[in-house]
Amino acid sequence: MYILGINAYHADASAAIVCDGRLVAAAEEERFNRVKHCAGFPFQAVKYCLGAAGIKPEELTHIAIARDSRARLDKKILYALKIPQMALRRLAPQGKFGAIKEEVARALEIDPEKLAAEVIRVEHHKAHLASSFFVSGFDEAALLSIDGLGDFASTMWGVGRDNAMTIDGAVAFPHSLGFFYTAITQYLGFWKYGDEYKVMGLASYGQPEFKDEFARIVRLEGRNGKPRFNLGLDYFIHHKVGSEISWNEGEPVVGKLYSDFLEARLGAAREAGSVVEERHRNIASSLQSRLEDSVLSLLNQLHRLYGVNKLCLAGGVAFNCVANGMIFDKTPFEEVYVPPAAGDAGLAIGAAFHVNHQTLGRPRSFTMDHAYWGPQFSNERIREALNRKNIADLGLRVAELCDEELARETARRIADGKIIGWFQGRMEFGPRALGNRSIVADPRRAEMKDILNSRIKHREPFRPFAPSVLEQRVGDYFDQSKPSPFMMMAYRVKPEKRGEIPAPTHVDGTGRLQTVNREQNPHYWRLISEFERLTGVPVVLNTSFNENEPVVCAPEEAIECFLRTRMDVLAIGNYLVEKV
Ligand SMILES: [Fe+2]
Repeated sequence: MYILGINAYHADASAAIVCDGRLVAAAEEERFNRVKHCAGFPFQAVKYCLGAAGIKPEELTHIAIARDSRARLDKKILYALKIPQMALRRLAPQGKFGAIKEEVARALEIDPEKLAAEVIRVEHHKAHLASSFFVSGFDEAALLSIDGLGDFASTMWGVGRDNAMTIDGAVAFPHSLGFFYTAITQYLGFWKYGDEYKVMGLASYGQPEFKDEFARIVRLEGRNGKPRFNLGLDYFIHHKVGSEISWNEGEPVVGKLYSDFLEARLGAAREAGSVVEERHRNIASSLQSRLEDSVLSLLNQLHRLYGVNKLCLAGGVAFNCVANGMIFDKTPFEEVYVPPAAGDAGLAIGAAFHVNHQTLGRPRSFTMDHAYWGPQFSNERIREALNRKNIADLGLRVAELCDEELARETARRIADGKIIGWFQGRMEFGPRALGNRSIVADPRRAEMKDILNSRIKHREPFRPFAPSVLEQRVGDYFDQSKPSPFMMMAYRVKPEKRGEIPAPTHVDGTGRLQTVNREQNPHYWRLISEFERLTGVPVVLNTSFNENEPVVCAPEEAIECFLRTRMDVLAIGNYLVEKV
C-alpha cells in the first residue's frame, strides 16, 4: 500500500509518502524551488518522495489530496451570493484539483494513463488533525486544529481512538483565530506570509494594555458545552471582501484583513518599516494574550468534553509555542503532541494517514518521533559540491573527520565563539531547523544574538533565537521537563540559569526549546554532548540554516550561504570547512 499525500495550491505546498502504514519521506516544495511558502503544485517534492521510497509511479495505490471542495458547501454558496468575487477566486484553483492525477504524472514524467492510484480528497482540517493524531503514538486523544482558513473552516475538534477520528465540531468562515492573528500582524506593519512569528516575539516586550478591547475582537462563548469563539466582525473586512489570499505559484499573499473601525479603536496602523513604539509592543502583547486565552479556553472545554489527558494539536496556530508552553500549567492535559509540520505542509502527511486509517481502516503502526524526512547527501556528493566551488582557491581550510572528531572539533569552535553551519543527514520536514540544517552558536554569550543578526540572519532585534538542550538535562534549565523535540513549546528558563544561557533566553525569560536525544539525532546529540563536556552547558543556540530564503536543502545551497555570509565554520557531512 503506497499512499502519496499532497498539499497543493495552498501555502507550503508539500508531498509525503506512506508505505505500508509508515512515513518514508516528506518535504516542502519551497526547499527545492527556493520560493518561500510556495503555494503551487509540489512537483519536485513528489518526485523526491517516490525516489526516496524507491517505488515506481505505477506502484502507487492512492493519491491523498488535502482539499475537499464539497466541505461546507452551504456556507460557500451563501458567501458566493454575498461576495461573488470571492467565489470566483475560489473557482480558479478548483479546476486544478480536477487534474491532480495529470499533475502527479507530470511531476513523475510519465503518461497519466500509467497511474493506477485512486485519488482521495481529505478535508483540510481533517488532514491537519490526522497529521497529528495518527502519528502521535497516542491510543486516545482530544484533537484540535486551528488555522486561518481551509475548506472554509478555521477550527475543528474531535477525539481520536485507535485508528479512527470522530469529528465533533468546527468553526466556519469568517470566524478565525488565524485571521485574527494575521489581521493584527498586518496592522502592526508586518505583511509577509508567516510574519506572525515576528509579532509573537515582539509581544514579550509589551504589556497587554488593550486587553479589554481585544476581548471584544475575539469573544469566547462556549455553547452547550461545545467550544466556540466569535470574531467581533466590525474590526475586520474579510467577511465583506472575502479572504483575499493569492495561492499562485509563488509566495502566498494575504490581502488586508482589518477594518477602519479597528484603526479608530486602536489608533493608526503602523507603517511597514517604521519605528516600533511602545503602543505597538503593547498591542502585540494584547493580541498574544487574547490568543492564549482563546486557545486555552478551547482546550479546557475540549478536556471537559472528552475527559482524556492527551492532546493532539495542528494547524498554523499550533506554531504559537508561547501558548503551547502554557498548556501543562493552565489545562488538565498531561501529554501534548504537536507535529513538526503543524501548518499546511503537514497536510501532505495528514491526508496520507487519513486515507490509510480513516478511509481504509488499516491499523496503526507508526509514531513520528523525529522530523528528518527530507533529502540527504553522501560525503562523495558533498565533496563534489565543495570541489565545484573551488574552495581551495578561496583560501578555505577543509578537513575530513570521523563523526566523533567532527563533533569534538565543532564543539570546540562553538565554545570559541565561532558561528557554525551544521549540515548533516536528512533535511527536516516543517519550518524548524532541528539540528540537520542548523546554524549553531554559543548560548553563553549574550552578544551572540546581535552577532548572528548582523552577520547572517538580519532579523528584527526583538525576535528570539532558540536553545537546543540535551533531553536528559531539560529539567535542570527549564521549569518543565517534558520533551519538546520539534521546538513547539516555549518554557520558562529557570531564573538561576538565565545568566548561563542568555543568547537563546527571550526577554520574558522563556526559551522556545528543542530537546535532543540520542536516538532521534545521534550526530546533533553528540555535538551538544561535546559542548557540554567542554563548557558544562548542555545547550547550544540553534537557528535555521538560511539567510532570508527557504532553509538550505542541498550542499550547494549550504556552501553558498556559508560563503556569502560571515559564518565562520561549515560542518557539512564529514567535512569541516573553515574561513581562515
Ligand atoms: Fe491549514
